[in-house]
Order: sequence, then C-alpha cells, then structure tokens
Amino acid sequence: MMKSLILIAITIIAGAMAMSIKTDDDSCPFPSQLKPKYDFSWKSKSGEWQNLTATTAYMMLALSWSPTYCATLSQANRDKEFQCMPSNGFGLIVHGLWPQAAKAPNVRAHPRNCRDEAQLNATFVKRFFCIMPSEDLMQGEWEKHGTCYYNQPMDYYVITEKIYQALRIPTNNVMTSSSAVVIKDAFLTLNSPALFASAVQIDMSGSKLKEVKICYDLQFRYASCT
Ligand SMILES: *[C@@H]1O[C@H](CO)[C@@H](O)[C@H](O)[C@H]1NC(C)=O
Ligand SMILES: *[C@@H]1O[C@H](CO)[C@@H](O)[C@H](O)[C@H]1NC(C)=O
Repeated sequence: MMKSLILIAITIIAGAMAMSIKTDDDSCPFPSQLKPKYDFSWKSKSGEWQNLTATTAYMMLALSWSPTYCATLSQANRDKEFQCMPSNGFGLIVHGLWPQAAKAPNVRAHPRNCRDEAQLNATFVKRFFCIMPSEDLMQGEWEKHGTCYYNQPMDYYVITEKIYQALRIPTNNVMTSSSAVVIKDAFLTLNSPALFASAVQIDMSGSKLKEVKICYDLQFRYASCT
C-alpha cells in the first residue's frame, strides 16, 4: 500500500517535470524539449520578402498579448505551443524588436530578412525564453529583423531584454480591459515622464488587446513611431 502510494507520487512528480523544468534561477516555465527544428528560412515562406536597401531610422519594440494571439490559432496548433498552455501563464511577451525605416509607405519598405543564420542553440533560447517563450519566434525575429541591424544574436536579444525590462507593464486587469485608451494611458502613467503618447501604439483585435508597440531612437530613447 505504502509502496504503491510512493510510486504514484513519483509518477506524478516526474510527469509534472516533463511538462516544464523550473530551476531556482528561472522566472518562467521552460519546455523539457525544444522542437527539433526551428530554423527559419524566409525563402521557403510564402508571403516573406527581403529588403536589404532600407535604412534603419528608429526601432520598434513589438509586444504581444499572448492570450489574444493564442486564441487566433486552431486548437491543434494551440496545443503544440508551449506559450499557449494556460498553465504556463504567459501574458505580455516580446514579439520582436524591429529596425524601421523613416516614413515607410508600407511594410515592405522596412529592413527585413537581411541574412540567413543558423539555428540558435538551446542554451541561447533558454536565456531569453521568459521574454519570448517560443523558439520559432526567437529564431524568426532574429533572422527577419535582428540581422538587419545586429551581427550577433546575443547583442540583439540583450538590448531587446534590456528595454523590455526597463518598461513598466500595467497589471493584467488593465491589459484585459477592452479600451485601447485605458491601456495606453496606463503605460504612459507608469512610464512617466520619459514615455510620451506618440511613442506608444496599442493594437486591438476587436475588444481584446493584441499588441503594444513602443518606439525608440537608435540610442534607445523613446521616440515617435513615425
Ligand atoms: C525596401 O525599402 C525601400 C525604402 O525603405 C523601398 O524603397 C524599396 O522598395 C523596398 N524594397 C522592396 C524589395 O520592397
Ligand atoms: C550558443 O550560442 C551562443 C550565441 O551564438 C554562443 O555564444 C554559445 O557559445 C553557444 N553555446 C553552445 C553550448 O553551443
């Protein structure tokens, strides 16, 4: 009796560990295994393009409200995404840091897909997983956007992490409000006086927050988004 109880307990603990490994210095869940392949190749993606000639005038930090993103996926795809498992509790995450051209008439006028790069290793993915909990996203953003301004992925993600962590994020109560104005005002108040209105964009999907965009000049001071 005692023996089988212990066995059940061990099985439950082992099962929980297989779902997410959490060690002392982690502040977020991490999968027991990354996908075997998460390299990115823009040439093999329909709807991707390259822009090597656009000049970077400013930077946009795109933040994604994970519950809204996950709700756009099919159930099958959602089940595959660690980011989308409700028990992992991801809210606002970094979508990417985007080098932007001045006065771009459309999205194709921004720098994009400047180099093809090797798959980031698991140590690297783990290092930045709490701000960007998806190996596919981390790889894709590095190649699509990061390579147009940085030579090394570490430089790209260290600055991304630094500016994200410097930003004060409103409570979930505010983030789940149905009003872009309420969300934007909360960002402005919390990050006063440095942050200002034209450096923040709130994108809604109906009544739900989709993305928050914060703009910076090339010295990473807040800057207008256009
Ligand atoms: C790249 O961006 C520049 C301006 O930033 C634009 O003039 C050009 O058409 C873009 N190239 C492509 C292939 O879209
Ligand atoms: C992982 O990648 C980083 C960044 O490219 C590199 O500095 C590091 O040496 C790599 N680590 C391993 C274990 O391969």
